[in-house]
Amino acid sequence: MVSPLGEGAALSLRGLKVDPPLFNAPMAGLSHTALRQIFLTFGGVGCFFTEMLAAKRLPSENPKRSALVKRTEAERPLAYQLLAATPEELLPAIKVVEGANGEVIDINFGCPAPPIRRMGGGSKLMESLENASRLFRSARKATELALTAKIRLGEELDEVHLKEFVSMLESSGADLITVHGRLRTEGYGRPPRWDWIGKVKSWVKIPVIGNGSIFSVDDGRRALDVSGCDGLMVGRGAITRPWLFSELANELYGKNYERVAPNLPGLYRRYADLLVESFKEQQRLIRLKAFTQYFSKNFPFGHNMAMSVGGAKSWDEAMKRAGDFFLSADPSFKGWALDTVGED
Ligand SMILES: Cc1cc2nc3c(=O)[nH]c(=O)nc-3n(C[C@H](O)[C@H](O)[C@H](O)COP(=O)(O)O)c2cc1C
Repeated sequence: MVSPLGEGAALSLRGLKVDPPLFNAPMAGLSHTALRQIFLTFGGVGCFFTEMLAAKRLPSENPKRSALVKRTEAERPLAYQLLAATPEELLPAIKVVEGANGEVIDINFGCPAPPIRRMGGGSKLMESLENASRLFRSARKATELALTAKIRLGEELDEVHLKEFVSMLESSGADLITVHGRLRTEGYGRPPRWDWIGKVKSWVKIPVIGNGSIFSVDDGRRALDVSGCDGLMVGRGAITRPWLFSELANELYGKNYERVAPNLPGLYRRYADLLVESFKEQQRLIRLKAFTQYFSKNFPFGHNMAMSVGGAKSWDEAMKRAGDFFLSADPSFKGWALDTVGED
């Protein structure tokens, strides 16, 4: 298959330009304004994502203060991913996204977590064409914003059902579909099925974005070659290496982002400072720990950092532990002044 490389690969979603066609994956506890701003410093993301937002809760969040909804103007375009089981839950949340000047609404059809499935949302919706279609069509009627869907491959490898499902999304007005190339029950140990993402691509005319285990430019190139999909969504690989988007953009889409050798302690510190700007202590401590789980993989003994920061009881303790780790792991690091790391 021919990959859609180069300048002509930009996508247009209801007039909204996505260039390059690279998306940060929605990830609970991780896809928030601080991390999106880190991605911005390197470049390469064509469309940003929030983490999944429970539609039921959204109307009671304050868009300026909520840790989930907060954004800066530069994080644009931004897709708000909504988790809902019924139109009654979904429609008020769509109004909130419109009020927050969101550019895209994405509906989660892939989350395999049992509590989400029990309430009828996420991957549970893929089991019933009727429920999913009722939900998606109600959203299409309710908003003029770009409307997208994120799915997994389903319960089992079933071409008939999957084709029906993605065709339903297309005929219900979806502007784009992201496919995480695993079945609902499959863990990350198994490679994603890029050939199945390719099948989805062949069944619909709207853009299909492929997702799953892209950790390098080579992974991205292979994914595009096998599936012929229209763009890539990257989660864990870009939490560990937030500059990955700029590498993918340069190598796969002919962009010219500055090639930088990232200063890892400096990047960690910048992320921490952005958390301080955006979140209260407990909110930011959780988000620092979640990020550290991935970022620490940049170091040979990074699991020590993840465990040490993960066990911290306060923000200052976490930052001190991170600083101690960098002192042992990075000869160029001279420590940081903890009193400037930030207080509420
Ligand atoms: C910690 C974590 C949180 C996630 N949260 C979400 C979420 O909120 N919404 C969603 O659609 N997928 C979620 N996912 C799935 C990712 O968006 C993505 O589909 C998956 O991680 C595969 O991409 P990757 O291999 O590039 O990480 C999450 C995954 C992880 C590991």
